[in-house]
Amino acid sequence: MSVSQFTIRQPDDWHLHLRDHDMLRAVIGHSSANFARAIIMPNLVPPVVNIDQAEAYRRRILDSLPRGHQFEPLMTLYLTEETKIEDVDTGARTGLIKALKLYPAGATTNSDSGVRNFDKVMPVLEQMADIGLPLLVHGEVTSHEVDIFDREVVFIERVLDPIRKKIPSLRVVMEHVTTSNAVDYVSSEGGNIAATITTHHLIINRNAYLVGGIKPHFYCLPVAKREEHRLALRTAATSGNPKFFLGTDSAPHPDSAKISECGCAGIYTSINTLNCLAHVFEEDDALDQLEAFASLNGPAFYGLPVNQNWVTFKKSQEPIAFPKQFSVQNEHVTVFDPGFPLYWQHEPANESEISSDDAVPRMRQ
Ligand code: DOR
Ligand code: ZN
Repeated sequence: MSVSQFTIRQPDDWHLHLRDHDMLRAVIGHSSANFARAIIMPNLVPPVVNIDQAEAYRRRILDSLPRGHQFEPLMTLYLTEETKIEDVDTGARTGLIKALKLYPAGATTNSDSGVRNFDKVMPVLEQMADIGLPLLVHGEVTSHEVDIFDREVVFIERVLDPIRKKIPSLRVVMEHVTTSNAVDYVSSEGGNIAATITTHHLIINRNAYLVGGIKPHFYCLPVAKREEHRLALRTAATSGNPKFFLGTDSAPHPDSAKISECGCAGIYTSINTLNCLAHVFEEDDALDQLEAFASLNGPAFYGLPVNQNWVTFKKSQEPIAFPKQFSVQNEHVTVFDPGFPLYWQHEPANESEISSDDAVPRMRQ
């Protein structure tokens, strides 16, 4: 079915890096123009490890919002071997903290304070299970002997599955899954595990950063894998399965940090994510599943209400122009290039496009 317009509830981003200070001020408007809420990653320098830091960071995010923008930052704590159970309890009880983030130490950007010995965090994980607070995992092992393309699969076998067997009631989001193995694992387990999928992993495979020269703007962690894995992610995202939802992992780095002898991992998609997703879902004849992936499945897993505002996507005749990069102080940040023109754009829905008892996107020819 070919449509030129449809209306869905406003999406949320269930995995986002906003950074801090100048970078925060430069990027926050991109997210708040597109998303109602986002789960905010705590991997600042220093990381967000306690309630006071989370509350102060939440304030800085709200203070950086462009005038007139509505946006709710959903705060997380960075799990360390020193995380206090009181912080977890207080954070959950007050509603400030929506999840804890587990970075295996050394797995990715600013993960040095992450977990080395998983036994040390078991009491905190048990408490999280008791109160229903989700654990968000960066699912890669860091052992040098494990090939980087296998790190997600080995993490499931060696770390995630054993933790879940010890604490079956722990609610887990496997973040930014990149393999068919992770899709199969999450699909076949019970309702306590879900996964986010990024926009870029639906679009690129490993050729994007390795063929024809090293392409640092397509380098992220976990790295994009073979084509067969990308296709498995597409099938999961477009299936409507409530276990899969959008987490962009949009992660701004200045070009000088990306284009370097030791370039940082991260792809910045906040500006054009929804346009890319509409393209991807249309290509897979699944526009009727975009709302589930971007707007419904995430709040359902987190036990939060769906958004009350709606957006209408319209397909333009001409490709939409996006900035290739934007400035932060004296630096540039490069925006994700999907490699194809984008035609879908979106705007707040008007009354006639919304029917209040209808959560299903309204497709128009
Ligand atoms: O590509 C990534 N960038 N993956 C991560 O896990 C972290 C993120 C960042 O913070 O730059
Ligand atoms: Zn991330």
